[in-house]
Amino acid sequence: MSKLAVITGGESGIGLASAQLLMAQQYQVVVLGLHENEELSRKNIGFYRCDVSSATEVQQAFHKIVAEYGNIDCLINNAGILSYGTAVDLDESEWDRVMAVNVKGPFLCAKYCIPQMNDNAVIINVASVQSFVAQPFVAAYATSKAAILGLTRSIAIDFAPKVRCVAVCPGTIDTPMLRDAMQQAAEPEAMMEELNASHLTGRIGQPEEVAELIAFLCSNKCGFINGQAIRVDGGLGVNIGGSKN
Ligand SMILES: NC(=O)c1ccc[n+]([C@@H]2O[C@H](COP(=O)([O-])OP(=O)(O)OC[C@H]3O[C@@H](n4cnc5c(N)ncnc54)[C@H](O)[C@@H]3O)[C@@H](O)[C@H]2O)c1
Repeated sequence: MSKLAVITGGESGIGLASAQLLMAQQYQVVVLGLHENEELSRKNIGFYRCDVSSATEVQQAFHKIVAEYGNIDCLINNAGILSYGTAVDLDESEWDRVMAVNVKGPFLCAKYCIPQMNDNAVIINVASVQSFVAQPFVAAYATSKAAILGLTRSIAIDFAPKVRCVAVCPGTIDTPMLRDAMQQAAEPEAMMEELNASHLTGRIGQPEEVAELIAFLCSNKCGFINGQAIRVDGGLGVNIGGSKN
């Protein structure tokens, strides 16, 4: 029987690429998100509208998934939002909104999913390279992505060996989230050049490159990886400067 994977925020970007790759690998895939789109229905990817920051909606969504598809093998907590501001100028409400989606969302999904998971299940939390290093003006986002590593370790400890939990930490990836961020930049082209140059690869990543890691972590090939944060970031932040000769 094929394995069942639930992906939050799988309507676009990294989540959609992961949904497509897992479908190609014969998983059944269900997306929990805000907007259904044609791409999902065309590819036979299930969809439930669900705001991951709402306990009621998350509980109801998992109830419906189990009733329709049965128990779950993989949960990919991918839904996330980016917001700009320093610790001084960020509104309290904006801080709460980022924490609600990026931190409470994965907690709620784990809470209502784990009791419905098969043995040898896996939860993948999509964190960020900003779990370790940060840019200016992303106080809430960087905090949320650091916090998710704590949740990853707690789930790994509390539910081993039935459930593994691993964080995937992407560098800059070409998704709608990045494109929205670029629209807010004074000079988008200069920003893209800087982003490309900041990765040792000389380019930013593609959603499919993150999806490959997510699919690998979902597979039985890596049953010995648990509680870790794994970077897929083109070497972003590795170079601390200095001359090559
Ligand atoms: N793009 C990057 O450079 C990058 C880098 C590191 C980490 N990430 C992380 O990767 C994940 C996916 O982001 P992406 O880059 O693919 O962007 P994206 O904007 O394409 O995807 C985010 C998805 O989350 C969904 N979403 C937002 N709020 C939600 C909510 N309350 N409930 C349910 N779904 C919600 C959106 O509808 C969207 O489909 C995010 O957690 C993001 O923080 C992205």
